[in-house]
Amino acid sequence: MMRSAEVDGVTLRLSQPDTVPMEWIGNESVREQLQAAWLVLEERDVPLAPRLLGKPGTGKTTLAYAVARSLGMDVYILQCTMDTRPEDLVVTPVLGENGRIAYHASPLVSAILTGGVCILDEGNRMPEKSWASLAPLLDQRRYVESVVAGIKLRAHPDFRLCVTMNDDASTYELPEYIQSRLQPQIEISFPSREEEERILRLNVPMAESEVLQYVAEFLQKAHRVNLPFSSRDGVNILRYALKLSKLRSVPPTTLLHDAIGAVLGEEGLDFLDSGVPPSASDEVEMDEMDFDSDDESHGGLPWDDDDESEDDFRA
Ligand SMILES: Nc1ncnc2c1ncn2[C@@H]1O[C@H](COP(=O)(O)OP(=O)(O)O)[C@@H](O)[C@H]1O
Ligand SMILES: [Mg+2]
Repeated sequence: MMRSAEVDGVTLRLSQPDTVPMEWIGNESVREQLQAAWLVLEERDVPLAPRLLGKPGTGKTTLAYAVARSLGMDVYILQCTMDTRPEDLVVTPVLGENGRIAYHASPLVSAILTGGVCILDEGNRMPEKSWASLAPLLDQRRYVESVVAGIKLRAHPDFRLCVTMNDDASTYELPEYIQSRLQPQIEISFPSREEEERILRLNVPMAESEVLQYVAEFLQKAHRVNLPFSSRDGVNILRYALKLSKLRSVPPTTLLHDAIGAVLGEEGLDFLDSGVPPSASDEVEMDEMDFDSDDESHGGLPWDDDDESEDDFRA
């Protein structure tokens, strides 16, 4: 079905909302922060446009999508890049049939007009010039202008926005006047051991417990020394190990080294080889993450702190 909307005599072709099976697992307080930001208390109130911050692959996009869907909203994801121009965020002209200009509404404008949620994904990849055009949308004015179509697009009361940002190097520093409008900041940190296992189980349900626990433990140890290995990497390691296992007819536990190398490269293998990796057959100590003081005492051997806890493994 093609959807369209008419604004000041101009017909806009709307984008389709995204429908993906995304579930989020993690700290409920993070979910609550996002819901609170989107809440509108009364007529004079406006929703906030939060910034979800964290390392790549920690579930920022998944969180935004899952929370929006749980509120019964349509979700429009707009992937931001270095090349995203102001008009890409709003309305682009397309040459239609019989030489007529047709106007295509971006996912953002489609959310604005229909009262959906727009996720500006990886927003800090986008240059300032594109951000500038969104300034009025992000304060109580709640509109965006299309220079191309010569119209002003006012936000539906149900329209909500959030921006995800990776804290890696390949990004722009946003100007202050934009940063101040993208509030509050919601930090997504690495999951706990128990959450990690649930995330892996959710995404790779066909993996057996042994191999799944190994990868969960590997990731947890990497998080503790702040290596940038994420749950997404874990999902990919598991999936790849299972595929190789199928092809070679050997147990997936024997392929974890290969899979870690293929997904995380040298850095992953160095980490794996730098100490005693978690033995896939050991039962894993769940309380390990409680030892905060371990962080400082770390001499760089990621598996160090396992030596003492080995005695604690419950039979
Ligand atoms: N907390 C989580 N809950 C559920 N899935 C997660 C979580 N974190 C990561 N994942 C999985 O890892 C992948 C990357 O998550 P994503 O939301 O794209 O991360 P980000 O946007 O932070 O880069 C997704 O495919 C998702 O299945
Ligand atoms: Mg993302």
